[in-house]
Amino acid sequence: MSSSHSEKKSGTATAHVSAAGNDLQDNLRRLDRLANLGLVSAGLAHEIKNGLVAIKTYIDLLLEKESDAEMAGLVRRELKRIDGLATQMLRLSSPKSGTMTKVNIHEVLDHSLRLLEHQMTERLIQLKRDYRATPDTVRGNESQLQQAFINLVLNGVEAIGTHGALTVRTEIFHGTAGGAGLKIFFEDTGAGIPLENQSRLFEPFFTTKKNGTGLGLAISRRVAEDHQGTIEVVSEAGRGSTFIVSLTAEL
Ligand SMILES: Nc1ncnc2c1ncn2[C@@H]1O[C@H](COP(=O)(O)OP(=O)(O)OP(=O)(O)O)[C@@H](O)[C@H]1O
Ligand SMILES: [Mg+2]
Repeated sequence: MSSSHSEKKSGTATAHVSAAGNDLQDNLRRLDRLANLGLVSAGLAHEIKNGLVAIKTYIDLLLEKESDAEMAGLVRRELKRIDGLATQMLRLSSPKSGTMTKVNIHEVLDHSLRLLEHQMTERLIQLKRDYRATPDTVRGNESQLQQAFINLVLNGVEAIGTHGALTVRTEIFHGTAGGAGLKIFFEDTGAGIPLENQSRLFEPFFTTKKNGTGLGLAISRRVAEDHQGTIEVVSEAGRGSTFIVSLTAEL
């Protein structure tokens, strides 16, 4: 209130309009966050309920038929799914956790890629590293960054299926404000993303996969934002996709 009072006093119409614009933007952002929160809780409740209904049905059958390995297997798989979902949800909703240290991005990338290398070899996906950022340091949380990178690489692998290439590139860029940034590109030769889906990719629970949770990109965006960074996508259906994570470089 006091700010709007002083705006009036300070006079110019433009100052007033832009301040009002900022307020509006802040409110919209807050609303957006709340809407996401609601969406997340609703989606989670829905998924858990589905899982529980399935478990209850199988348990009932199991009790009727006595021990049956196939049924037990189904129960276990469903439990594992709920467990994984809850773990992802906790990562998404927990406030910034973990400590921020000086992180070598190339090391974190290598570590993330090592975990997925086997999968890529099996699928005949060629992995190309094109590390150009020097230095490659940012201030960040290593395990959160790794989580985001794994999600992005996995999406690339899943989009390719078999036969293709996944390129991980890093670059230093210089912003208009004088600071340096570090961009990480995850480029795949997969199916690409139809335009109508591009604006929804980062929404929690948006998925086009049969067994997807739709949380991978929501988590990756949260991680980027917790590092005051951004994540963008450039894609054309049929021509592959590139996800770009931009962070502040620590020179
Ligand atoms: N590299 C990519 N190429 C094509 N489509 C993609 C790519 N990355 C994401 N998508 C699309 O965005 C959707 C959301 O991705 P996200 O990682 O959030 O969830 P998911 O991969 O479906 O499931 P999860 O990551 O939770 O297992 C995907 O279902 C897919 O349609
Ligand atoms: Mg994913």
